[in-house]
Amino acid sequence: MSVVKFYKEEHQVPLEMHKVRVVQKLFLPTVEERVAKLKEAGNNTFLLQNRDVFMDMLTDSGVNAMSDNQVAASMQADDSYAGSETFNRLSRVIEQVFGTKYFLPAHQGRACENILAETFVKEGDVVPMNFHFTTTKAHITRKGGRVEELIIAEGLDPNLEYPFKGNFDIARLRALIEEVGPEHVPFVRIEAGTNLIGGQPLSMQNMLEVAAVCKEYGVMSVLDASLLQDNLYFIKTREEAAKNMSIAEIIRKIADEMDLIYFSSRKLGFARGGAIVSNNESLILKMKAFIPLYEGFLTYGGMEVRAMEAMAVGLLETLDEEIINQGPIFIEYLVKELSEYGIPMVKPAGGLGAHINATEFLPNIPHEQYPAGALATALYIAGGIRGMERGSLSEQRNPDGSENYAELELVRLACPRRVFTLSQIKYCADRVKWLYDNRHLIGGLKWVEEPEVLRFFFGKLQPLSDWQEKLAAKFREDFGDSL
Ligand code: F0G
Repeated sequence: MSVVKFYKEEHQVPLEMHKVRVVQKLFLPTVEERVAKLKEAGNNTFLLQNRDVFMDMLTDSGVNAMSDNQVAASMQADDSYAGSETFNRLSRVIEQVFGTKYFLPAHQGRACENILAETFVKEGDVVPMNFHFTTTKAHITRKGGRVEELIIAEGLDPNLEYPFKGNFDIARLRALIEEVGPEHVPFVRIEAGTNLIGGQPLSMQNMLEVAAVCKEYGVMSVLDASLLQDNLYFIKTREEAAKNMSIAEIIRKIADEMDLIYFSSRKLGFARGGAIVSNNESLILKMKAFIPLYEGFLTYGGMEVRAMEAMAVGLLETLDEEIINQGPIFIEYLVKELSEYGIPMVKPAGGLGAHINATEFLPNIPHEQYPAGALATALYIAGGIRGMERGSLSEQRNPDGSENYAELELVRLACPRRVFTLSQIKYCADRVKWLYDNRHLIGGLKWVEEPEVLRFFFGKLQPLSDWQEKLAAKFREDFGDSL
């Protein structure tokens, strides 16, 4: 992969291979306003209004910048209920990228998960995966199934530098299938890359090994390719076997071994929407009827046709190494800056965003006071930066009502692709550093409103003391009249 080298090594920074031609004005409320806005939002960063956020690092989902070619293509969409030409164009691109003949459209990634769970998961089934994602797990458990996570041990050690921390433990996968019996395993789900453990990738070799085990036991392999774009970059740059392969070749090598692939195009392809693709017609036929039932007619699946055109162009852009490297190199830069300040980050830098290890950042805040949630609120106070809690708040309670504490308490600083400039990334690093130096001021949170399903989206919390006001007062003291 080509890297543009700077004349002086010390000048080297990530260099974008694009320029910005459409911009959006940002606002940064004062620190006192930030405390007030946070209260209004029930201390849940999902409930903040975007107009009150300076850097929206909540997610990389549906907020990536589109290219000129994507915008242009979306203007030529063929808007018909049935038999849209846009569908045919997108089908051809999907076949070109994944080598798959069949494509079911859905409005986003979780809609694909709903259809997969509805079609294949029965009461008592077990779905092995390297790691769960919130919506995936919710759909499987809703159908009476159970998720088993088979991530390698390295994956759960935030400080360990290992290139493919998202890999499956293949021995445990075999043992699990043997133990429960292949007839109770509707599919194995491969999340490439992972979301909740810091955007860590899987190696191409590991994905192929998982697919081989699936074939051996006659179990369906399902690739969740939502975060594949960053994962492809890591395969290309970290895996010896892929060094001389193009991105297109890497995708095909993986896709050829999978029974089904689904993805959120809010991530993969810088667009909106979702898709389930396969070469296996009988699997597709089993799911087909659910598309008009839950999504929309078969040629749009709940998607806006303009988004489908943008998806087609975005998927082709994914084959360009100079396009897919922007996210990972910015994330790596942010992780490096923060690590140099001594801030505990998930290492190595992964995809999706930079991940702060809240357990180490706030060692005095126990699980039951939600350290990652508390840190996410403190970061908004410190800089108008909206991150996302990816820890115990994001988990579901156990069936008996007890807490199911997360293995990792993380705050994710997502880096939507092609959206932030390097100066904004530096601002973020600066504010996190200030917060780290003042971490003794940060306190815990408690629930005041806790929904039963996916509680992190709408739940409301309260600080356990007036620590947020004290943090804001310290900000004033240190920054004077600065925003
Ligand atoms: N799979 C993975 C690995 C994801 O990261 C997501 C979404 C989905 C499936 C569901 O896709 O949002 O289009 O319905 N992740 C978003 C995030 C929500 O913020 O990480 P969706």
